[in-house]
Parts: sequence; C-alpha cells; structure tokens
Amino acid sequence: MSGFELPTDRADLFSLGLKLLDKDYFIGQFCPEHGVDPTDLFAKTEVFGGLMSELRASGRFLFGMPVVSKPGPKVIIEEPDGNQREMIMFASNDYLGLSAHPEVHAAIREVVENYGVGAGSSRVNVGYSGIHRSLEAKLAKHWGQEAGLLYPTGYDAISSTIAALCGPNDRVIIDASSHSCIIDGARRSGATVRMFRHNDAKRLEAQLKRASDKGEGAILVVVEGAYSMDGDIAPLDAFVPLVKKYGARLMVDEAHAIGVLGARGHGAVEHFGLEDEVDLIGGTFSKSLGATGGFVVGNAAVLSYLNYLSTRIVFSAAFPPILAHGVSKAIDLMEADGGLRERLWENIRYFSDGFRKLGLDLPEVEVGAVPVRVHKDGVMVDFAAELYEAGIYAIPIVYPSVPHGRSMFRLAMQAGHTTEQLDYALSVFERLLKKYEIL
Ligand SMILES: Cc1ncc(COP(=O)(O)O)c(C=O)c1O
Repeated sequence: MSGFELPTDRADLFSLGLKLLDKDYFIGQFCPEHGVDPTDLFAKTEVFGGLMSELRASGRFLFGMPVVSKPGPKVIIEEPDGNQREMIMFASNDYLGLSAHPEVHAAIREVVENYGVGAGSSRVNVGYSGIHRSLEAKLAKHWGQEAGLLYPTGYDAISSTIAALCGPNDRVIIDASSHSCIIDGARRSGATVRMFRHNDAKRLEAQLKRASDKGEGAILVVVEGAYSMDGDIAPLDAFVPLVKKYGARLMVDEAHAIGVLGARGHGAVEHFGLEDEVDLIGGTFSKSLGATGGFVVGNAAVLSYLNYLSTRIVFSAAFPPILAHGVSKAIDLMEADGGLRERLWENIRYFSDGFRKLGLDLPEVEVGAVPVRVHKDGVMVDFAAELYEAGIYAIPIVYPSVPHGRSMFRLAMQAGHTTEQLDYALSVFERLLKKYEIL
C-alpha cells in the first residue's frame, strides 16, 4: 500500500497512472507535494510501486500486458490472473506483418548457428559483423546515400546523432510533435533547442531566421517523415528550400514512414523524391521492418564521425547480427512486395472511410494509424475498458500525451487485418461512440 488516497473517479485514476510515467512530474511535483523524503534516493520508488499496484488492482491500467501468441492482427494476451484473451490488435507498429513472415524467420535460422545470438560487444570493438556491414551497404545503396550506420535501436540512432553532431554553440530546431528521442538528443547535445508549431513551414522559417541572426554555430533541423499520432506527414517539399535558404542541415526521422510511404517503402523522403536534398535520414527496424535496431544514412565523412562519437554506438553492444540478417530480408520483402503496402493502404482507407460513414469527422489519414478523436477526456477510461472487453486492443491516448480535450485512440493498422476484423471493430466503435455521445 502506498498510503496515499487515490482518486475515486476512474478517469482521474487513469490519468494519474499516465502522469506517473513522466519522471519530471513524479519527482518534480508529485513527490514534493506528498512529502516523500527527498534525501532517501529510494523512498520515491516505494511510493511509486504502491501506487502502481493499486492502479493495476483497479483493473484500469491496460499497459504492458504480455502477448503470449505470434504477433499479427489477432493476438492472445495474458491478464494478471493468468486468463488468456484473444484480441484484435490495433496497437502494434508491425504495419506490414514482417515480424511473423516465414522468409524473415528462415533468414534468421540460416545464420544463427554461425553468428550466435548476441553481438558480444559494441560496434567499434568486435560487435561488427559481415552481416552488419552488408546491411549498412544495402541501406546506403537503397536509400540513395553514400553510407549507412547501424545503431542498437532507432531511439539511439536519432538521439545519439543529434547529440554527437551538435554542441553548445549550435541550434537544433524541432517540430512541436517530436518524438522523445529527438527532444532527448537535442537536449543532450547542449545546443539551444527551439520548437516550431507542428508541420508549420512559416513557423519553421521564423525559427530559422531567429537562429541565423544569432550568427555563431550551426543549425540542425530535425523532423519526422510521418507523425503517427497526428496522422500526417511532414511537408518536406516546403521545408527543404527553407533549410537551404538559411544554410542549415536537415535530418528526417523516418520511423513511422518506412514501409508506409514511398514507391519502395523508404519513407517520406522517397515519397517527395528528395533523396538528394536531405542531409541525414534516420530510421528504425522496430516498426514496419518487424525487428529492432536503428540506422542513419548520409554523407560518408559524417557517418564515420558519428561512428566514433555517438555514445550509443561506442558504449552499447551492437544489435544482434542475426537480426541484421532478418532485417535485410525484411527490406527485400518490403521493396519487392508492393502488395503488402497496397493492402495496408486499402485497410487504412477502408477503416477511415468506415469511421467517416459513421459520422466521425476524420481528415485524410496520411500515415499507418487511424486517429479516432474522442475529445471527451472523462469517457476515455470506460471507453477503453469496453473496447478491451469486446476484444479490441487499442491504447487510449490522453493527457499528458495529448493536450486536455484532445483524447483519442490511435488505431495502428496492419496489412494483415481482414475486412471482417475491421467491420467488427467499426461496429464496436459505432456502439461506443453513440453510447458516449461522440456521434
Ligand atoms: C518517431 C520515432 N523515432 C524513433 C523511435 C524509436 O525507435 P526504436 O523503437 O527503434 O527505438 C520511435 C519509436 O516509437 C518513433 O516513433
């Protein structure tokens, strides 16, 4: 027991559960307000543990339940009491279903005996294998860049690149909807960090002008190719001329765009045909490519510098070579089988049209997840619980992930979702959207 009185209102309880996952809030505000002894380093962890147990016991904290089946559009999850439940999955970023693809599995089996399970060391030590080298070469060639560099995760690729390249004299300009890895890297770099309103070219230009008026140091602009929460893509065609005008550099994080956008699934840069105009492209293997690991492609001299000055390369083991081989196969499948992407887009269109037919105001969806905006914060907990009871696994997005009044469900689509699954989900949403007077 934490000894704290938890809110009795379920929406407040749920909201508190999410807020507790923000370290700045928990240590900076919650602990001082509740008199947690700041001189005992572990005191706060006891409080945190107690609160979490109570939240879990309330049955209102759906995050992090183990999936005990193969990944895919339908999964089995295990509840705290051991009960197993079949769910239609709308929370996985394995958009193309490549994590469970038999050819990817065969590729991994092919090399596991010769390469083992782990890399054994960091890339600059002895964790770099022939498999890593050929994946880097493939990424560079296929993404139309001079060189490629692998990182243990996508988070590392983006955050460490920014932190290694920029210093206190520099300025990093980022979108207001940026993923945590971009914010983290920009802060760690020691550079001055400026944000501009999401996808707003005018605001970007204002920040570029302000930064270039300062004179000293360099300017790096970092944006994402696709914003999976906002449901839109970066207007790179508008951003590129601005970045050039002010002599800045542009890095694009293609995490949610790979496999979803571009003729071969390379992302937003390919979608806009800007391969020669963007300075650095970063990405992850953890979404459409169904594995784990991250990369950056770009100029060879820049990447060689990053290889030795990215802390997440030098001080962390490389990701397993067997996975690098699996990722290489997944890239081949993604590029060769345009049908996978077509099916994903058919599903995105079918599902978003379905919501529009129900009467939901849904702008064009440009990414792999359909944002269903509920707006009423107070109903989210019950809404999410009823979706769960109906066998639909969809994570509610509430404050502080989005501003108050902007609560939503981010429904991540998969190429493998069947029309029956989507129709069923639409019928459940119709019932609940009406019940909670959103329609
Ligand atoms: C925009 C963006 N960049 C980077 C990452 C991190 O990728 P990884 O899972 O490989 O660490 C994510 C993951 O959520 C992301 O959404």
